[in-house]
Amino acid sequence: MYCVRNVTEDLYWVGANDHRLALFENIHPIPRGVSYNAYLLLDEKSVLFDTVDWSACRQFLENVEHLLGGRGLDYLVINHMEPDHGASIEEILLRYPKVKIISTEKAFMLMRQFGFQVDGHELIEVKEGDTQSFGKHVVTFVAAPMVHWPEAMVTFDTTNGVLFSADAFGSFGALDGKLFADEVDFDRDWIDDARRYYTNIVGKYGPHVMHLLKKAGTIDIKMLCPLHGPVWRENIPYLLDKYVHWATYEPEEKGVVVAYASMYGNTEAAAQALASKLCEKGMTNVWLYDVSNTHVSYLISETFRLSHVVLASVTYNLGIYPVMYGFLQDMKALNLQKRTVAIVENGSWACKSGDLMQKFLDDEMKGMTVLNERLSLASSLGEGKEAELDALANAILASMQ
Ligand code: FEO
Repeated sequence: MYCVRNVTEDLYWVGANDHRLALFENIHPIPRGVSYNAYLLLDEKSVLFDTVDWSACRQFLENVEHLLGGRGLDYLVINHMEPDHGASIEEILLRYPKVKIISTEKAFMLMRQFGFQVDGHELIEVKEGDTQSFGKHVVTFVAAPMVHWPEAMVTFDTTNGVLFSADAFGSFGALDGKLFADEVDFDRDWIDDARRYYTNIVGKYGPHVMHLLKKAGTIDIKMLCPLHGPVWRENIPYLLDKYVHWATYEPEEKGVVVAYASMYGNTEAAAQALASKLCEKGMTNVWLYDVSNTHVSYLISETFRLSHVVLASVTYNLGIYPVMYGFLQDMKALNLQKRTVAIVENGSWACKSGDLMQKFLDDEMKGMTVLNERLSLASSLGEGKEAELDALANAILASMQ
């Protein structure tokens, strides 16, 4: 049975929702599922914008077939060929062998690399600024390299202001009927998933995203149609503002994420004591996470959101606790910068974690400010540590001014 939604007069969502996939890219948990969005334009020519993941192919094909109602498919525009969108290209070619595929040179190269049998079909290679008329609608193609793959482009419909934005402006979370961002309470129910999606999938490529945002600023966008998550037709500046923060690594809020690595609960107790101090002194935007039982994608998302990070780690094998080290490596890989960091270290006989975390932040990351004050524990937060705790809380608050 088909499951489609009307987007504009002659444009339809023909994607599908996936609640069975546990890990996006086999790494990021998606407890609320994910949508693979594809769009069908029924102009003088019929035009499909992107396909879907293999797991959603059957639903997608039923959607397309239903809306075409017996007419052929003239064009398939591939903005992004990563297999969560490109996996069903061959199925479209099998059913609509006369379809012409429009995409970038790199995308066709990658399709061949992934073994997609596209040769033998009409392939139209486009580059920045090329246009194509489908009848009433004229689209222009805009290169979006490294957002977040090299072959990506976005397509702007100059007739109605719809931007098919590939992975940009997407989100984790299945749509489950609600297609538009204005049909949900996005700021309450979706922003955390949108941030976690962006920061972990695209976060490394902030400068490339800013380049795309600058280009987007020159066109009159009325609607954003991403490949995951809700479609935007209202309040687009809200999302653009979030993207500018994320892409420039500026925090959204003054606040503190406290990430702790604790073996027996003593480092955790220190993290709790520090959080209480901060709240007592008036900073209540404080969020504690145990790195051992919080997937790193959530930690990354929170460090992009907040201005300050407390890293509290026990020493393990004379090094940083492995899960905390993984978090640090992920922050570096995703290019996180411009945060103020406070360190809490613990070690029962050779406390090393603080110096090693500081060295990592200084040597391996960009624009991280490490506070001079540090809370050092020998096994536990013993008596006499009140002054150190107080000094660290005060230093965090002072750095917020
Ligand atoms: Fe949703 Fe980069 O694929």
